[in-house]
Amino acid sequence: MNMIGKRENFGSQFTFIMAMAGSAIGLGNIWRFPYMVGEHGGAAFIIAYILCCLTIALPGFVCEAIIGRRARLGVYGAFSKLAPGTKWKWMGAACVLTSFIIVSFYSVVGGWSLDFLLRSLTGKLSHGNPDGAVAIFNKMAASPVESISMMAAFLGLTALIVLGGVKKGIEKFTKITMPMLFFLMLLIVVFSCLLPGAGEGIRYLIKPDFSKLDGDGWAAALGQAFFSMSLGMGTVLIYSSFMKKEDSIIKSGLWTAGSDTMFALISGFAIMPAVFSAGIEPSAGPPLVYETLPYIFAKMGQDAPILGYAVTLAFFLAVLTAALTSSISMFEVCVEHAVEQYGFKRWQAVLAFFVPGFILGIFCSLSFGPMKDVKLFDKTIFDLCDYASSNILMTLGALVFVLFVGWKMKKADVRDELTSGGTVRLGNGVFNVIYFLIRWIIPPAILVIFLINILQ
Ligand code: PHE
Repeated sequence: MNMIGKRENFGSQFTFIMAMAGSAIGLGNIWRFPYMVGEHGGAAFIIAYILCCLTIALPGFVCEAIIGRRARLGVYGAFSKLAPGTKWKWMGAACVLTSFIIVSFYSVVGGWSLDFLLRSLTGKLSHGNPDGAVAIFNKMAASPVESISMMAAFLGLTALIVLGGVKKGIEKFTKITMPMLFFLMLLIVVFSCLLPGAGEGIRYLIKPDFSKLDGDGWAAALGQAFFSMSLGMGTVLIYSSFMKKEDSIIKSGLWTAGSDTMFALISGFAIMPAVFSAGIEPSAGPPLVYETLPYIFAKMGQDAPILGYAVTLAFFLAVLTAALTSSISMFEVCVEHAVEQYGFKRWQAVLAFFVPGFILGIFCSLSFGPMKDVKLFDKTIFDLCDYASSNILMTLGALVFVLFVGWKMKKADVRDELTSGGTVRLGNGVFNVIYFLIRWIIPPAILVIFLINILQ
């Protein structure tokens, strides 16, 4: 899709959903979700997460999409067009800040995937010793040269794809790698659940212990729902600005939320049983998945060397592409803003965000090595970027989008978008319920969870 200049539409609703799923399904599902589950007590967090997705993130998606399709512009332009002369347009700058922070720390984790892909090429993961699996991650993360160069390579790839407009190529590639990732993950689920001691991990995922779910856990669940659905920072708005008028926003939201949540759950079941089998601490935080995967693949390689090799390689290739389709969607928010608002040429905009993104990325990389004891608000720089973007900035961003649709836009315009100009059937009663939720229920719900998190 060529985002800038000619605003062409997605060819069909299916293409829109594929692009949106490409943005939504990424490291958030494979890497972030399992470690969040591990940090916040297992099944109870999963229930909180699903509830947040259905009741808050999905309507949030609908609101962001309504603004994007109505205005057919980027964030800054959209608010300038729909609410001329007001301060709403500052949301554009807020979205850029959020996307920029996410791109930087996301590139660190994307870099880990790239590193693991290279390692799997030489068979180092599938032919390794399962008992020494955790050391592989620790060695990589602690080496500044290795982790920074991998982060830079991932960020560079993202920038090149956004610059070269080769998204079409990437999208074609994703049509193969996404289903591949899905089947490989299912295979890993089965393998993982059959490992010795996996039963405890399965129990951890299905037996909720609500005493472990505090305000922090709810805020993390909400933040994870926003992060995973790429919400609250302009990606959904920009993608929806290319959505055809006759396509259903609600249906697109349901598909995106459904596929995204399914991927997250599958990742949880792929990782957690192996975590318990390997005796890794579930609350190990961001390294969790990358400490566990070498264990899984080394075990697989012991039983079936060729299969282990092939699965490892295909898996990291798929993870890398899933990560790239997500990172380009956030980088696009930054680039689109600089082009639209400041008249930057595309290459200038890409460079303007690549350089500072790389610098922040260095600090995020070093948070797992030489700078692991440098803490602000009790968090490493990486953790702070992760926390500030999803638990604070995306949450507030989504709140602004919902408030705009509920209180600033005309009700008739909202109805027009939800019914796609009358082509999508939506009963009056259903519309009124959705509109009531958008005005009266969702904003206070977001606010309450946000405040509990901040004040506790
Ligand atoms: N949703 C993506 C993931 O799960 C991350 C992302 C966040 C992408 C924000 C775009 C915008 O990996």
